[in-house]
Amino acid sequence: MQADTTTQTLDINGERRTVCFPSHHTLLEVLREECGLTGTKHGCELGECGACTVLVDGEAVLSCLVLTAEVGERPIETVEGLQDGNALHPLQTTFADLGAAQCGYCTPGILMAAKSLLAHNAAPSRPEIREALSGNLCRCTGYHKIVEAVEGASVLLRGEAWEPEAETIYGHDVDS
Ligand code: FES
Ligand code: FES
Repeated sequence: MQADTTTQTLDINGERRTVCFPSHHTLLEVLREECGLTGTKHGCELGECGACTVLVDGEAVLSCLVLTAEVGERPIETVEGLQDGNALHPLQTTFADLGAAQCGYCTPGILMAAKSLLAHNAAPSRPEIREALSGNLCRCTGYHKIVEAVEGASVLLRGEAWEPEAETIYGHDVDS
């Protein structure tokens, strides 16, 4: 028996896209399978890893737990929408500069959770950053670089100068 399908116009990264999908499919499934937006990662599908985090109406949500049919026309933001033309988002800049992504599997979800945090709190403390990212698991980095990168992005977004300490830059020669 064929599954029920839904045809819906979604607002993704500022672009309206009409997509047809099985009615029971989650936002994670529709973004990846119908829209080809594979930056949003498929992890546990249980709401436990944060790899699938996107923004709906500016709020971080776990797209594996959201039915697409319930999103309606609310704006959806994925990691593909972070960059502005050729310009990286400050979060992307600081993550790259500090080596805050290693295998990168958790990174899209962390970037989106951090974007939501910085939209609500322009100058979060390190404990506040850790709290906001507590639902995003990373197997590689130990989290310290991630917290530093989010803190650095908050500085850039406030229009202030940010210069990472030399020893925190990825690839820095500790003997030089
Ligand atoms: S895939 Fe959604 S929380 Fe893990
Ligand atoms: S960079 Fe590999 S899981 Fe986070």
